[in-house]
Amino acid sequence: MTEIWVLGGTGRVGRGVADRLADGGDSPVLVGRDAGRLREAAAARGHRTYVAPTLDAATAGIREARPTVVVSTVGPFTRTMTPVVDACLAAGSDYVDLANDLAAVPALLARGEDAVRAGRTLVTGAGFGVAATESVVAWLCAEGRDAGRRAVRVRTDMVPSLALQSGPLGEALAGTLMEGLPGVSGGGRFQGRRFADGRLTPAPLGGGVHPLVTPDGDHVSAGLMPLGELVAAQRASGAPDVESASSEVPHSQLARLVLPAASTLLAVGPLRRFAARRLAAVTFPARPAPRTHSWGHAVVTWDDGTTSEGWLGLGEAQETTDALVTEVARRLLRGDGRPGAFTPAALFGAGLATAVGGTYTRIGAAA
Ligand SMILES: NC(=O)c1ccc[n+]([C@@H]2O[C@H](COP(=O)([O-])OP(=O)(O)OC[C@H]3O[C@@H](n4cnc5c(N)ncnc54)[C@H](OP(=O)(O)O)[C@@H]3O)[C@@H](O)[C@H]2O)c1
Repeated sequence: MTEIWVLGGTGRVGRGVADRLADGGDSPVLVGRDAGRLREAAAARGHRTYVAPTLDAATAGIREARPTVVVSTVGPFTRTMTPVVDACLAAGSDYVDLANDLAAVPALLARGEDAVRAGRTLVTGAGFGVAATESVVAWLCAEGRDAGRRAVRVRTDMVPSLALQSGPLGEALAGTLMEGLPGVSGGGRFQGRRFADGRLTPAPLGGGVHPLVTPDGDHVSAGLMPLGELVAAQRASGAPDVESASSEVPHSQLARLVLPAASTLLAVGPLRRFAARRLAAVTFPARPAPRTHSWGHAVVTWDDGTTSEGWLGLGEAQETTDALVTEVARRLLRGDGRPGAFTPAALFGAGLATAVGGTYTRIGAAA
């Protein structure tokens, strides 16, 4: 039983991860719901395939075949995670996903005790968003702890440089965007969140805008966007006050006025499902990556009032996501995991990012 299954094997990340696994000598099985699309996705590299017309069929397949590692790229993870994780724990498989929303990431982390009982490793947030920002927080906090300091406040900024392939956005990504905040405590369904005094509290979506200059000299700005990295940064730092921002959130004054109204509308289920269907069909023209690097950025304020600031430079965001998911899956395949549920840097440390070509840069003196 040394197999690795890639659910969503016809998708952007699924194909990218499978090809990288094959480049490293592993032999992934692409799992998909349409035999024709799956054949097409697998043909160039001769990947093995498993047709599962529904998610139930895929989980039945996992229980029967008992692969060593299951990589799930099928979002929205709020819907797919529980059945897939249940199947993995029953089958004795490790699990990796690339969830990045504030509902799915804590939901997976809450399965930690189940994973320990089953002796398996569950990893969530293995894509660019969570891994890049939590890695730089983990890197700064390791230094701070060595210097006897305690983090009291953390701000993270995710600055992806994403090349777009032409084609539709797709229902997995659209569903993730639309379903990311339902049922999250600490505010309204489509309000933003931040940690204050250790608790999730409301925050303005797109507010808290910070202008940033990357180590490459690019000027960007980032506004508050409560994604999985908010939880990952809080856990990595232990800080009671944490906020997370993204350069991708619209944060013009107009957008900030419109977002609350749009959020209220999206709280209505049928409207949200309609919007998700429309969003899934939106087709993007191809676009090159806007910057040389994608960045994770963090500022940690210590209990003595001083701050540490760091950047983690990575490649194009989609390539980085594929590389990170592949690296995590490969390490699990080698047996380097440990029982429990983790975000990537919580399991493998800040060195995971350097293993996929990342470079850390400190601004100012060490903690
Ligand atoms: N954390 C991060 O930084 C990060 C980065 C990139 C992506 N993501 C997330 O990763 C997920 C995948 O992204 P992607 O760009 O690879 O999306 P994609 O190209 O649309 O691929 C999605 C895959 O999931 C399959 N799928 C969709 N709905 C399904 C269902 N109900 N049952 C079974 N299979 C289903 C699709 O199969 P068909 O071919 O049959 O439609 C396809 O293989 C998204 O949820 C996205 O939000 C996260």
